[in-house]
Amino acid sequence: MKMTYLRGLLVVSAAASTVFGQSSNYETCLRDALAEGGSVAFPDALLYQAVDVNRYNLNIPVTPAAVTFPTSSKQVASIVKCASDNGYRVQARSGGHSYGNYGLGGTDGAIVVDMKNFQQFSMNYTTWHATIGAGTLLKDITTRLYNAGKRAMAHGTSPQIGAGGHFTIGGLGPLSRQYGMALDHTLEVEVVLANGTIVRTSEDENPDVFWAIRGAGSGFGIVTEFIVRTEPAPGSAVQYEFTFSIGDAQSQAALYKQWQAYVSNPDLTWKLASTLWVLQDVMIISGTYFGTKAEYDALDIGGQFPGATNSSAIVFEDFLGLVAEWGEEVLLKLTGGIPSNFYAKSAAWTPQDLMSDESIDQFFEYVETANKGTLVWLLVFDFEGGFTNQVDVDATAYPHRNVLIWLQTYAINLLGRITPTTIKFLEELNQLANTDSPYEAYPGYVDPLLQNGPQAYWGSNLPRLERIKAEIDPNNVFRNPQSPQPAT
Ligand SMILES: Cc1cc2nc3c(=O)[nH]c(=O)nc-3n(C[C@H](O)[C@H](O)[C@H](O)COP(=O)(O)OP(=O)(O)OC[C@H]3O[C@@H](n4cnc5c(N)ncnc54)[C@H](O)[C@@H]3O)c2cc1C
Ligand SMILES: *[C@@H]1O[C@H](CO)[C@@H](O)[C@H](O)[C@H]1NC(C)=O
Ligand SMILES: *[C@@H]1O[C@H](CO)[C@@H](O)[C@H](O)[C@H]1NC(C)=O
Ligand SMILES: *[C@@H]1O[C@H](CO)[C@@H](O)[C@H](O)[C@H]1NC(C)=O
Repeated sequence: MKMTYLRGLLVVSAAASTVFGQSSNYETCLRDALAEGGSVAFPDALLYQAVDVNRYNLNIPVTPAAVTFPTSSKQVASIVKCASDNGYRVQARSGGHSYGNYGLGGTDGAIVVDMKNFQQFSMNYTTWHATIGAGTLLKDITTRLYNAGKRAMAHGTSPQIGAGGHFTIGGLGPLSRQYGMALDHTLEVEVVLANGTIVRTSEDENPDVFWAIRGAGSGFGIVTEFIVRTEPAPGSAVQYEFTFSIGDAQSQAALYKQWQAYVSNPDLTWKLASTLWVLQDVMIISGTYFGTKAEYDALDIGGQFPGATNSSAIVFEDFLGLVAEWGEEVLLKLTGGIPSNFYAKSAAWTPQDLMSDESIDQFFEYVETANKGTLVWLLVFDFEGGFTNQVDVDATAYPHRNVLIWLQTYAINLLGRITPTTIKFLEELNQLANTDSPYEAYPGYVDPLLQNGPQAYWGSNLPRLERIKAEIDPNNVFRNPQSPQPAT
């Protein structure tokens, strides 16, 4: 088993080195750029795929032209210069958790800037603004903020996601209804631009770059550090879970209708986060209530959704304990830290275009009867709204400010590549979800097979992104298969 795996790797790197040729200008340039710290690996390195490339989505093969590990903004700038002078494109990798391996370029031949050495952290105890290095993973962000005066910010639940890819595309999590997306916390960033200059950006300084970085970062530069607004870490909180052992379409549709009606009440408290999960023969409603057990009990969530086969409500007085519990959720247990073959799509509903009872029936009928091509699939309906809806559509590059519910449809193949049957299942499911309005997709759940990806990710903000792109990166140095193109 192990031998075959290793032999496979050697074949891959041998093929790659013939593609990219002999030692060339870009190699010498990168070695010079990293002479005083950091490191660089090229495709002919032993274990290049397993160690340096280390794909997260095994379903998408990709061989970068180089993987660099800089230690300073100046080195990042030199790497970007080497790449643009030699006609290579660049992508940063922070946590490496892009669904499309976009931190590796998404397709062969990019120069990758791995940000793992960018771990700077400081707290300004007057303003409670925190400085966070772009390579910091969410688990470390949570702990560092908490240890600096019990502070917190909104972000996703997966501990292994990186700030660089998360704060630049969105960053939705249990605190988002109260505090916004991670990108709504961002006050200032340091960015390396395509021409190799290092700039600070904020509402007052380089505001166009700052705007683009908050929602479409990967196409505009490499963020080296973020300065963010923080909030007092939540005190008492209740993590609740209701499990329903139901697998037939009718019962599932009935429960979904109840949940949709519950979360679409505009007066529902922002302190409540809720997710509805659909798996083979099981539905789960789970989430966090940020408040006391007495307040939680008064909401009587169980009473809204009768028929649970099991339920739990765990009280956390300690925020770090609560965040650790988030890391145990079902999707993260399956995939969080472990590379796998997977494919996912996203879809969204606003309060105005929620599914009708009839659409819900059709949706779950399809879920029951469709050939899925895998046993490991799940649907995740995330309740958003709250603060995320209070920000103007054009305040940042992230345009989906009217979304009440995000759906993520997700399939894993434990045996090999994702099959056409599974892709068809997810595509048809998403067509049923989106009957009327223009298709909206979450830029954080990149879907490499999506036609018109940029339109679905950035909607009405795309034209402005294309104009800014033409100004600061006309040669499209920073790109992956779905980043905005420069306006012509
Ligand atoms: C298991 C799992 C759970 C998830 N849960 C959530 C969730 O709860 N909420 C949510 O909102 N999202 C969630 N996501 C999506 C996640 O936010 C995105 O995949 C995010 O882009 C990952 O960032 P990264 O730095 O880890 O990935 P990377 O692959 O390193 O980067 C992703 C993209 O961002 C770019 N990028 C990375 N670093 C920088 C930088 N320093 N400057 C500019 N561009 C950069 C890359 O070039 C690439 O295009 C989840 C993903 C996974 C795999
Ligand atoms: C904290 O922020 C204030 C206000 O911007 C500033 O005057 C002060 O110098 C900062 N403190 C530190 C330690 O950076
Ligand atoms: C019910 O949930 C609790 C807590 O999550 C768990 O320990 C228990 O095993 C579950 N019981 C059943 C019958 O699933
Ligand atoms: C680099 O690009 C930025 C943004 O377009 C511009 O302001 C700056 O002057 C450029 N610097 C150099 C050295 O060309």
